[in-house]
Amino acid sequence: CSEGNCYFGLKDDLARNLFGQHIASEVIMKAVTGFINNDNPKKPLVLSFHGSSGVGKNLASQLIVKNLYKQGMDSRFVHYFNSVAHFPDHGQVETYKSQLQHWIRGNVTNCAHSLFIFDEMKNMHPGIIDGLKPFMDYVHKLDGVSYRKAIFIFLSNDGGEIIRRTTFDFLITGKERQKLKLEDLETDISSVEGFGGFEVESNAVDFFIPFLPLERQHIVKCVLAEMEATGHKPDHNKACDMADEIVLYFPKDEGGFARFGCKMIAGRLEFFL
Ligand SMILES: *[C@@H]1O[C@H](CO)[C@@H](O)[C@H](O)[C@H]1NC(C)=O
Repeated sequence: CSEGNCYFGLKDDLARNLFGQHIASEVIMKAVTGFINNDNPKKPLVLSFHGSSGVGKNLASQLIVKNLYKQGMDSRFVHYFNSVAHFPDHGQVETYKSQLQHWIRGNVTNCAHSLFIFDEMKNMHPGIIDGLKPFMDYVHKLDGVSYRKAIFIFLSNDGGEIIRRTTFDFLITGKERQKLKLEDLETDISSVEGFGGFEVESNAVDFFIPFLPLERQHIVKCVLAEMEATGHKPDHNKACDMADEIVLYFPKDEGGFARFGCKMIAGRLEFFL
């Protein structure tokens, strides 16, 4: 069932589509290629993406999927769960939990290289998260099934606010955004309690990956990319107009970042043009 061998495309795809995320791009690239090239991983790959809305967490997970599975998000080896849509009723936690465990087990039994995405982790009930933890350990086999070739990706808004503040504090001293390093954000990550439901000290998650807040220049790139993707001629002036008219920004003394990142762009492009 291992379909993907085109992970060289990942680097290119990240560079071309994921704007303003030099840290995330680099860590994802290293983590995913390292894992895929390892014939005998000790545990599944577990990535936890953090950052506010619209900064590219979903997009990044889709780019990974696209480069590992021929059918992309439609692959039957790729499973997407949104806590709000799939596990809305907190009275049903035990049912959700056992169903989910059953599915993970069934799917990994069929295909060791299965990939699971969990979106909106901030709203995921802790009981369900606990139910996922056994799959992420260094256990050789759990009831006869090995999960070591599976990939789990968690998307969460947790940490978005503190990542924004750190980015702002860094930029205000006149330093270049590209110079911001994973280490600069690691203290932030460990200071957020129950980060996306996972304790930072636990070894379940291999990489906590921060997504930075976006600036106007990145919004312009998002608009241009969306124009291209929807068959419009990319027009820089129009993209700038849209970045100024449609997108809300924090005040300058709070960084001037786009409040909802690139979130509104796709939905409003046609209307705007
Ligand atoms: C695999 O996961 C899907 C949910 O994405 C579920 O509907 C299906 O029943 C699972 N398959 C097995 C064999 O458990």
